[in-house]
Amino acid sequence: MPGFEIINKEEKNAILNLFKEGGVLFAHGWENLRKKFHVREFEKNFSKKMRCKHSLAVTSGTAAIKIGLKALGVKAGDEVITQSFNFIATIEAILDIGAKPVMVNIDENLNMDLDELKKKITKKTKVLLPVHMLGNPCEMDKIIQIANKYKLKILEDNCESIGSKYKSKYLGTLGDVGVFSFDFGKTITTGEGGMIVTNKKKYFKFCNEYHDHGHQLLKKFSRGNDRAKFPGFNYRMTEMQGVIGKIQLKKLDNIIVENKKRYEALKNLIFKKFDLRTQPKFSEESYDVLIIKNIKNVKIKRKILKLLTQNNFGTKNLPGAIRWHCAYYWDHAIGNVLSKKNYKTKTILENSIAIPMLLKKPVNSYKTLGKLLSKI
Ligand SMILES: Cc1ncc(COP(=O)(O)O)c(C=O)c1O
Repeated sequence: MPGFEIINKEEKNAILNLFKEGGVLFAHGWENLRKKFHVREFEKNFSKKMRCKHSLAVTSGTAAIKIGLKALGVKAGDEVITQSFNFIATIEAILDIGAKPVMVNIDENLNMDLDELKKKITKKTKVLLPVHMLGNPCEMDKIIQIANKYKLKILEDNCESIGSKYKSKYLGTLGDVGVFSFDFGKTITTGEGGMIVTNKKKYFKFCNEYHDHGHQLLKKFSRGNDRAKFPGFNYRMTEMQGVIGKIQLKKLDNIIVENKKRYEALKNLIFKKFDLRTQPKFSEESYDVLIIKNIKNVKIKRKILKLLTQNNFGTKNLPGAIRWHCAYYWDHAIGNVLSKKNYKTKTILENSIAIPMLLKKPVNSYKTLGKLLSKI
């Protein structure tokens, strides 16, 4: 479920207190006007939660991908391999650097087809960009093996699966750099916002400087007299986002517990009737959605969708927002020839329905839904 569902007094009071304590300040500086540095605290708490060394808050998940790719040395003309079940943001970030997105179809479990991935690696490939879609981990061990073999870096897009784990490690912390989104639809939200995580100091240093106009933040200089080694940009998170992010992060574990209750209640009633998306071995998902796959019969698909609409569950991305999540439709970004090579992905996604786990819906309503679905 998205974090916006559980925004309550805590977030509201924190915003009021922020205005009492200094107001809409930058994430840095103006020590004389403020008592706290909320964005810096959010980053510290994030690193502790994700068990990683460095976290950097930025304006969005899309910005986080772009900054992360630049930190990994991606330059104009390089190739970045990602998957065709995705969100357009990764492609936009790659294109914004002048690099080339290379798309890989998905397999029956809606994860990157690793045989196709190996075939797409060329001398120009710099980074593998797996995307953990809708709460579900990619096959990270195998992706890491491939990256090591071909000496490639990994940027994990974990915008949709915060809190999911692979071999007990939080997703986003297994590759060289990981990125998160806190936009309105995400598991925890700051309205808009993103986070970059890494265990390597050199990547953090680059991201930190680049996201803040190149500021080196050298202690011996005041901010106004600080130095830069390269031109950056402004991708800084605001204190208002930081203050909300700290509270939402504390709610993450409970969101996943609540998601799981609803997911299990539904799954137990329909797993014999429908094909459900499964998770890779040794992984734990955040139970954001339950995906029914391989629905080849159009009438059955219509019946499921009707039931979900009538009972106010709706769907998440599949099939309603398929155009934004499937490279087959991205002629405007990658051209008609490349987009149409993602036909296999389109077919798999067209036969899938993602049912969202919503807090406003009690667990019992998922049991009722399960009973109705099992009678279709
Ligand atoms: C997989 C994925 N990557 C990146 C993003 C971009 O995040 P943001 O909306 O914060 O820019 C999203 C957001 O929907 C996403 O789902």
